[in-house]
Amino acid sequence: MKTCNIAIDGPAGAGKSSIAREIASRLGFVYVDTGALYRAIALFSADYPTQADFLQALEDAACHLELKYFGGTQCIFLNGDNVTDKLRTPDISMKASQISALPEVRAFLLDQQKSIAKEHNVIMDGRDIGTVVLPDADLKIFLTASPEERASRRYLELEDKPDAPSYEEILEDIKRRDYNDSHRTVAPLKQAKDAILIDSTTMGFHEVCEAILELIEEKLDLE
Ligand code: DC
Repeated sequence: MKTCNIAIDGPAGAGKSSIAREIASRLGFVYVDTGALYRAIALFSADYPTQADFLQALEDAACHLELKYFGGTQCIFLNGDNVTDKLRTPDISMKASQISALPEVRAFLLDQQKSIAKEHNVIMDGRDIGTVVLPDADLKIFLTASPEERASRRYLELEDKPDAPSYEEILEDIKRRDYNDSHRTVAPLKQAKDAILIDSTTMGFHEVCEAILELIEEKLDLE
């Protein structure tokens, strides 16, 4: 049976993950956070002294990634270890943005992402889901917000944590990742021709969810 696939792409910090998770739970779909796959590969790469060693290890199939779901929460296992809690550091964010430009890394993850979408109804979020991974997705959303708004949301999330970065540092980091993600040669971040643009700069979480749920109702036959 053909599965139903929804793609949500957009820059870092646009709210893709929390929105995709909420919509997946409302529809009973599997939520796939593809950024976590790139982050897990970034963590894997840290064990190798050079990029050549790391790419050789990928080619030698030394990196085994598995997604498991616990009550709708995606956990990622790297060679049998649950590394989910190690993936959201600023260091891994920057490294993931760098290694995601390597064609070998993208090829390594492509089949994995496609086969999850073939087996399950999914909402998949990332940078190239509508353009490369699921070009035939049933609905494609490109979710964005101004860099300043994304930095300010991230700042509010982190401000009570010890060693929280300043707003300026977060903004700088977001702009650098936007640049890396949209200027790489392979599968850069860009809006697919048939994707619907949602600019959430002045919208709240629930407003964005409702807008996407309306599009789903309008465009997909989920009965
Ligand atoms: O969504 P995120 O911030 O967790 O993603 C981490 C990095 O992985 C991001 O800088 C770009 C890369 N990425 C990608 O190139 N393609 C995807 N489909 C998802 C993430």
